[in-house]
Amino acid sequence: MRVRVVIIVLVLGIGIVSASLVSALTRFNLVGNNEGYRPEQPIAYSHRVHAGELAIPCLYCHPGAERSRHAGIPSSNICMNCHRYVTAPLGSIREEERVAGEEGREVVPLVSAELQKLYDSLGLDEQLVRDPEREEQPIVWSRVHQVPDFVYFDHRPHVTAGVTCQRCHGPIEGMDRVRQFSSLSMGWCVNCHRESGGTRLAGRPVDPSLDCVTCHY
Ligand code: HEC
Ligand code: HEC
Ligand code: HEC
Ligand code: HEC
Ligand code: HEC
Repeated sequence: MRVRVVIIVLVLGIGIVSASLVSALTRFNLVGNNEGYRPEQPIAYSHRVHAGELAIPCLYCHPGAERSRHAGIPSSNICMNCHRYVTAPLGSIREEERVAGEEGREVVPLVSAELQKLYDSLGLDEQLVRDPEREEQPIVWSRVHQVPDFVYFDHRPHVTAGVTCQRCHGPIEGMDRVRQFSSLSMGWCVNCHRESGGTRLAGRPVDPSLDCVTCHY
């Protein structure tokens, strides 16, 4: 029995080490810790504004976190639910309305440079109507968090058990630009699994597994 376990751990360990070598060689950045990683994004989208000030729920834009392995990044169409109407910061729209009123002229529609990038990605014209002459170019957001290929992580069991987004991602609703808050190391995963064992979350007892194969195929 003992011997079998040792062999399984050894085989799994060798498999993972070689998998991690392969992915280190192909991705260049596996070994080491990306905590604090905070890449620039193609549009200055702010979680502080949207999830903080406007209090839009995380799951409105990331519904996959509750339903599937990946939380997912929202498409430009979700943004358009609001940005069909909000084309610039609210303060500058109000200011333009005030000045136009004082000067007795028509309000000039404002489009901010950042939101223009959103409209361009959807190939919209000045009236925000789809222009067949313009190409649609999906926004390529830079990925912030990533566990190596040989690790199995799934959002759903965590979110449905009541682990909050913030326990893993930190105070996202205060960040203008997202940064990786936790190390995402094996010790980080395993410590929380160990400490959560036998506790209650969202009203029910949880017992996350510590088996190697839970997180490594
Ligand atoms: C209005 C839509 C919207 C809302 C609401 C929103 N997000 Fe996001 N989220 C995005 C977009 C767009 C990105 C990709 C750009 C970026 O990283 O800032 C993103 C990126 C992220 C990332 C980084 C993804 C990666 O590449 O690793 C995390 C983590 C995240 N969101 C968590 C949250 C949490 C937690 C909340 C609630 C507190 C939330 N988001 C609310 C739109 C949203
Ligand atoms: C539920 C409504 C809503 C959704 C959905 C939404 N936004 Fe916004 N967004 C706003 C509002 C309102 C403001 C203006 C806030 C202010 O001026 O205080 C804003 C501001 C912005 C700004 C700042 C504009 C500037 O020039 O300063 C950007 C950029 C932006 N949003 C991008 C996005 C992107 C990208 C998405 C989709 C991932 C998105 N928003 C989804 C409501 C929304
Ligand atoms: C138990 C920790 C944990 C919790 C809780 C958690 N996340 Fe994550 N999140 C991660 C890890 C780890 C990754 C990297 C996953 C990967 O590489 O596949 C990640 C990646 C992401 C990403 C990047 C894109 C993707 O689809 O993987 C987004 C967006 C995100 N999380 C949003 C959220 C939101 C919103 C919540 C709450 C509803 C949440 N997360 C809860 C750990 C967590
Ligand atoms: C903040 C605490 C926390 C962190 C960090 C965390 N987990 Fe979990 N994990 C849990 C909880 C709680 C459950 C749900 C257990 C239950 O429902 O009994 C869970 C469940 C899981 C499951 C489903 C199988 C099971 O045992 O229920 C997998 C797979 C998993 N976690 C992998 C990971 C990986 C991989 C990481 C690191 C990248 C990670 N977890 C980080 C708390 C955490
Ligand atoms: C709760 C999830 C979880 C469990 C359980 C788990 N691991 Fe891991 N393991 C990870 C994560 C996440 C990484 C990637 C860490 C990193 O890149 O820093 C990892 C990395 C590794 C690595 C590669 C180390 C390196 O430096 O690249 C090996 C080997 C490994 N695990 C073996 C095991 C063995 C053997 C077990 C069982 C005793 C086990 N793991 C249990 C999450 C887990």
